Amino acid sequence: MKPKVYVTRKIDDEIVARLEAAADVAMWPEADVPVPREVLEREIRDADGLYCLLTDTIDEALMAKAERLRIIANMAVGYNNIDVAAATSRGIQVTNTPGVLTETTADLTFALLMATARRIVEASDYLRRGDWVTWSPMLLTGQDVYGATLGIIGLGRIGEALARRAKAFDMKVLYCNRTRKPQAEERFGLTYADKDDLLRQSDFVCVLVPYTPDTRGLIGERELALMKPTSVLINTSRGGIVDESALYRALKSGAIWAAGLDVFEREPIGADHPLLTLPNVVALPHIGSASVRTRMRMGHMAADNLLQALAGGTPPNLVNVPG
Ligand code: GLV
Repeated sequence: MKPKVYVTRKIDDEIVARLEAAADVAMWPEADVPVPREVLEREIRDADGLYCLLTDTIDEALMAKAERLRIIANMAVGYNNIDVAAATSRGIQVTNTPGVLTETTADLTFALLMATARRIVEASDYLRRGDWVTWSPMLLTGQDVYGATLGIIGLGRIGEALARRAKAFDMKVLYCNRTRKPQAEERFGLTYADKDDLLRQSDFVCVLVPYTPDTRGLIGERELALMKPTSVLINTSRGGIVDESALYRALKSGAIWAAGLDVFEREPIGADHPLLTLPNVVALPHIGSASVRTRMRMGHMAADNLLQALAGGTPPNLVNVPG
């Protein structure tokens, strides 16, 4: 008998065909609606493998219902939606999709930085509203990107890719990270700083750490108060890393100049989210890795991991070591 795989969202036919060659596949049929919890709870009971997205909460209670589950393959590099400790203790492998999305996400991070610095969205809205009367000396003036200081909090793969882009814009790049990275410092001309110094000195602060209990609220009231009134915060990692209420207050009071956000504490946010009332916020719907090529690669990579695990091997992107 073939193993059963449950896929929590409608994914590309090419990927489904690969899974079907090795497994009986059941799939939630919607592309733009997440699988309801009760459906997932029902389907997981006899599943050997789960192919899931960052929108699915894969917790202990769900795993407790899964008698045969051996592999949870997340189609994302971040896996804070999965209780990895619970999976490990139940002997379930957990995998993610690192590497393939690095450059695409760094592109989006830099695009958000530039859009925020130069008020691109606000300026475009201004024009479309018909407000453009004349060229004017200080109209819609922003902050320079070239020559400015960028502070990267979390120098992982995406942080390094962002640093390379920043260097091409003659930016001075500071970083902080759990461990110092002398090779990256030398290769890309980066300067290590502790978090508070980085916040004080940077014109742009980009948050690129994984979301864990340790990084929850990493940027809060105290950290925002250290930033310059002309500086910009960019977050393309996970929403909960930045305290949104503190950020709202800092943006409203002018404690910082602007923010570019691709991620939010609770996604999706509605059009009535307080941050969207502020003109100095550029907000995107979690599209960091959203290029056609990269999303297809992530989809195939999650399938590679899942298939390898079902075949009894060690998946290439294992994030835990189940006992
Ligand atoms: C996207 O946010 C990812 O973690 O891949």
